[in-house]
Amino acid sequence: MTILVTGASGHLGANLVRRLLEDGHSVRVLLRQGSNNTAVDGLNVERVYSDLRDANAVLAAIQGCDHIYHCAANVSILDGIPELQQEIYDCNVIGTRNLLQAALANGVSKVVVTGSLSAVGYHPTQPSDETVPFNPFGNHLPYEFTKSCVEHECLKAFADGLNVVIAVSCAILGTNDFKPSRMGKTLVDFANGKLSAYVPGGFEFVSTRDIVQGHILAMDKGRPGQKYIFSTQFLTVDELMGIFEEITGKSRPRLRIPGFVMAVIATTADAILPRLFPQMPRRFTSGAVRILQMYRRADCRKAKNELGYQPTSIRQAIQEAYDHFVRRGMIQTVTPVMRASAPN
Ligand SMILES: NC(=O)c1ccc[n+]([C@@H]2O[C@H](COP(=O)([O-])OP(=O)(O)OC[C@H]3O[C@@H](n4cnc5c(N)ncnc54)[C@H](OP(=O)(O)O)[C@@H]3O)[C@@H](O)[C@H]2O)c1
Repeated sequence: MTILVTGASGHLGANLVRRLLEDGHSVRVLLRQGSNNTAVDGLNVERVYSDLRDANAVLAAIQGCDHIYHCAANVSILDGIPELQQEIYDCNVIGTRNLLQAALANGVSKVVVTGSLSAVGYHPTQPSDETVPFNPFGNHLPYEFTKSCVEHECLKAFADGLNVVIAVSCAILGTNDFKPSRMGKTLVDFANGKLSAYVPGGFEFVSTRDIVQGHILAMDKGRPGQKYIFSTQFLTVDELMGIFEEITGKSRPRLRIPGFVMAVIATTADAILPRLFPQMPRRFTSGAVRILQMYRRADCRKAKNELGYQPTSIRQAIQEAYDHFVRRGMIQTVTPVMRASAPN
């Protein structure tokens, strides 16, 4: 049986593919030509190249696959740029739709689609579970809107007879972070003494180990048409900085910028930077600051009760991410010793 994984060059996909290979499966990965596909270098996988927006290419890519993990998405914290919004929509919503329709047409027996906590309704005073509806009139990033639409596409495909399950991810932390992710870059910058400030807040995190296990459980035991939230632990940013300090041996930045101040700075930057430097990666946008200030918590009892999901440890995930970055030379652990210059 061949298992197709989309988004295999990404953080989740890189970890999921390794786990599937360890479990003895035959894996096909859907990649894009011209992308950074380092995450699958040296792995014993079948590679197919296609963009999810190309329905015919997706149809060809899934031939002969019985199970699909659809992890790919355009993950973005940007807002207010129409061309970018269209791209996020096309990749996430149309791409998912193309994949699910191809799966239906080819008799694929089960598909697990990665969801996002940002598309689960927000409850200000208690953790959100799968029953809290997404409020379309809330203040959402384009990415968050599309992840809600992705769930809608899944339910339409389920109504048409597809066995599809949504595995909802929280903010991912952990190893095999090749691009690296925004959280991974934050850890790298922290460890290299290049993080000059931080913003208090809080979010629900999931380790790569746990979100991979969640996807496997969703495939093995998830009820068709259902969604399951997988989280490891809620952390405030101050707690996260504490773990970074323990693991890296470095101190957190002295500058702790209050959320409302950072929101003003980020809103100003939102209005200027995307137009001048559209490709520039940004740690903070006003949307990202807002999300941190929501102190969003998740309730994953459904996954625990129905699937037997058991979260592990975020600290361990951060240690594994740190070790991965050290191995790849992205974190300098020793201060280079100045060479004495040779006598003339
Ligand atoms: N990271 C998080 O904290 C987080 C939190 C909640 C939910 N999630 C969800 O988890 C999943 C995986 O996230 P991640 O962190 O692994 O993301 P990631 O590292 O950014 O990887 C995204 C992957 O999707 C692929 N992709 C994007 N658009 C595509 C398209 N049009 N056609 C084909 N492939 C496309 C990318 O391929 P290229 O390399 O070619 O760009 C890449 O492999 C996503 O569904 C995301 O929404 C992530």
